[in-house]
Parts: sequence; structure tokens; C-alpha cells
Amino acid sequence: MSTATTTRSSGSETAGSVSRMRLFIDTGSVAEVEELAAWGVLSGATTNPSLLAKEDGDPGDIVRRICDLVDGPTSAEVVSADARGMVAEGRALRTLHEHIVVKVPFSAAGLAATKELSADGHPVNMTLVFTANQALLSAEAGATYISCFMGRLDDISVDSAEVVREIVETLRPGGYAQAQVLAASLRHPEHLKTAARLGCEVATVPGKVLRQALDHPLTTAGIEKFTADWQSRPEFARWLEELVSSAQVAGR
Ligand code: E4P
Repeated sequence: MSTATTTRSSGSETAGSVSRMRLFIDTGSVAEVEELAAWGVLSGATTNPSLLAKEDGDPGDIVRRICDLVDGPTSAEVVSADARGMVAEGRALRTLHEHIVVKVPFSAAGLAATKELSADGHPVNMTLVFTANQALLSAEAGATYISCFMGRLDDISVDSAEVVREIVETLRPGGYAQAQVLAASLRHPEHLKTAARLGCEVATVPGKVLRQALDHPLTTAGIEKFTADWQSRPEFARWLEELVSSAQVAGR
């Protein structure tokens, strides 16, 4: 086990105080958030220009609705190439909803914008981070979230788990209490487990991967068997109905 996993806590607004990884949903689809927020496991959301470009409707309305549904940090991304434009867009995006986190692409301009936005109290998600050094610079600039793209690293035959491990170890233990490592570009449930094992504070997960993490044929078969066995005793169904009714009457 790495030093990072043993010395670092995870999953909080401020890194290092709570030991769990929070789950965000990575999407631009309100319908998808409506469906998956009902599971009760989401703490936030991330969008990006590519995800929003697939959707019909006003991007502001979409992002506001997602903020309401997840009731937690929701990243909306700036698209300017220069720091001044990024800051102006970031401030404007923050007026959409109290849960908005300004997502800034990693670059020299992105660092300068992050410094200015975070100094003004705006949370920033530094995105498109692929190395520990980029993560270090992002943390130094004041980013609240540092998004490491696992799937895109694997696509170019770089071991994303090694990079995430290096990022976690580079930032912890250290003086970057505000910086949370956010595992992004997750393509399958293995990425999700790896992010948790390595001590990421957050993983942003596409709906498809969340559904894959939900399903197991033995779970489905087990539920079918329990249901069939219970139904083989009709008097049990009547007993349970009565139990539910009396509990409701008693207000339990
Ligand atoms: C993160 O916030 C990004 O929106 C996202 O994870 C990118 O994933 P992709 O590589 O599947 O596009």
C-alpha cells in the first residue's frame, strides 16, 4: 500500500478530514441526473463543453437544474483562452447558482485565472490534468478540485492508476489542504474502485459507469429467488401487508 493511502484522508470539502470518496455525476443531461440523483449517492456533478453541446436547451438552465438536483458542487467550464476571459466567464458562471464551481482548463492562463478566482473566494476545478506536476501547480494556484483524466491517459497507454497515485502522493501530506483530487474520465467500474483505493476525494462518474457498478447477475438472480420463495407462501404477503399498515398507523 502506498504511503498516500495510509496517511491521507479523503472525501471532504477540505481534503484530509473525512475518509470517503464522494461521487459526482459527469454529464450534461438533466434527465440522467434526475434518474441517478434518486439513488441517493450523488454529492455533486461535473459538466464540460462537449457534454453540454450534446444537449438541447439553454446551457444555463441545464446547469442550474443539475445544481438543484444534486444539491452540491457542480462544475461549469470556461472556454476563453486567456486569463482575463476565463475570470470574466468564471465570475458570470458563478451567478447562475450557489453550487457552481468554475471549471478551468489547465494552462498558464488557467493557472493565473485560478489564482484570481480562488483568491476572490470562487471554487475552481482545474481540469485536463495529466501529471503530478500539473496537479502541484494547480494546487499552488488555489484550485479546490484537480481533475485527473484516467480514461484519456489509458487511451494513450499511460497507466492512469500510476498517475493518480503519483498525484495523491505529491499533494499529501503537504500544505494543500484545499486541493481535492477528482478522478475524471472514468470509463468503467475498475476506474471507480481504483480512484477510491488511491485516496481520491472525488470521482466524477458517467451514468453508464454508475449503472455498470449497480448491476450484477447474481444480485438480479438473488432478488428473483427471494421474491419467488416469498410468493410461494401467500399468507406471508398478507402478514407483511398488515405489518406495514399497522406501522403506518403507529406513525413509524
Ligand atoms: C471531467 O470533469 C470531464 O467532464 C470528463 O470526465 C471527461 O471524460 P471523457 O474523457 O470521457 O470525455
